[in-house]
Amino acid sequence: MARTVLVTGGGTGLGKAAALRFAREGDRVAICGRRTEVLEAASREIAAAGAADVATFACDVRYDDDVAKMAAALHERWGALDVLLANAAGNFVCPAEKLSPNGWKAVIEIVLNGTFYCCSAFGRKMIEAHAADGKGRSIVTIVADYAWAAGPGVIHSASAKAGVLALTRTLAVEWARHGIRANAVSPGPFRSEGTDKNLWLDETLAREIVESIPLRRYTTAAEVAESIAFLADEAKAGYITGACLPVDGGHWLTGSHLGFLDAIARAAKP
Ligand code: COA
Repeated sequence: MARTVLVTGGGTGLGKAAALRFAREGDRVAICGRRTEVLEAASREIAAAGAADVATFACDVRYDDDVAKMAAALHERWGALDVLLANAAGNFVCPAEKLSPNGWKAVIEIVLNGTFYCCSAFGRKMIEAHAADGKGRSIVTIVADYAWAAGPGVIHSASAKAGVLALTRTLAVEWARHGIRANAVSPGPFRSEGTDKNLWLDETLAREIVESIPLRRYTTAAEVAESIAFLADEAKAGYITGACLPVDGGHWLTGSHLGFLDAIARAAKP
């Protein structure tokens, strides 16, 4: 039976890869993001991949009113979600001493507040639905290894992701009795047009990063999407909740993220 799934930030990158993965299972897939034209293009791909239905919402998750409106519209259309993938994020590299209060706020509001607003708005309806049908439902969040270590160069994102990890574990315990599992995925370093532009800066740094990953390659969005799909699947992961799954080629075990983020932050223009 087709599940109902929302992927926040589902118009690009990892979010889109996960939305396509759910679409291939024949699920009903909703995506939200800030840019309508990006969402429209992604929705055509999602429909072509096999989704039973596709919905798009222009919604900036840092605004609780926007999230509440999206939740009301989606609940009206499909009822409670079976799967919420809280993926929407914002990030940029900036040494802590140069980060302005507005820069701090932008990332905290998107990553931490936005994740809470979505979990809250969609979780309430999941709780109500579980009381009626007893079905299991799932929330998956996206973190990073610096959520439990340190994120030199991305203090805002590290602080927000640490909050998201605590939020995920807390919901896992609080909402277990409502049949809701909550798990996090922690992707390793990605390489994309966006990261080339915003992060890796040059080929030397990109190579150094690969050499610091035990499996000696970057994570791909498609393989992270497989882990998200696994955790969201009641039949496969029905007894897994409160977990944080690194999909990072062993990268966090080496502690080398500390070095590379620091190098990126030092190389970044002020
Ligand atoms: N370095 C330092 N400060 C930065 C910055 C950077 N690269 N980018 C943004 N800021 C600061 C701005 O200067 C501003 O602070 P100020 O008012 O004190 O000058 C504050 O952050 C908000 O900037 P604004 O451009 O209004 O941000 P926004 O709310 O529109 O968007 C992001 C914030 C994080 C989404 C944006 O920086 C962005 O698009 N990042 C790249 C894309 C991305 O994040 N993809 C997801 C990767 S996980």
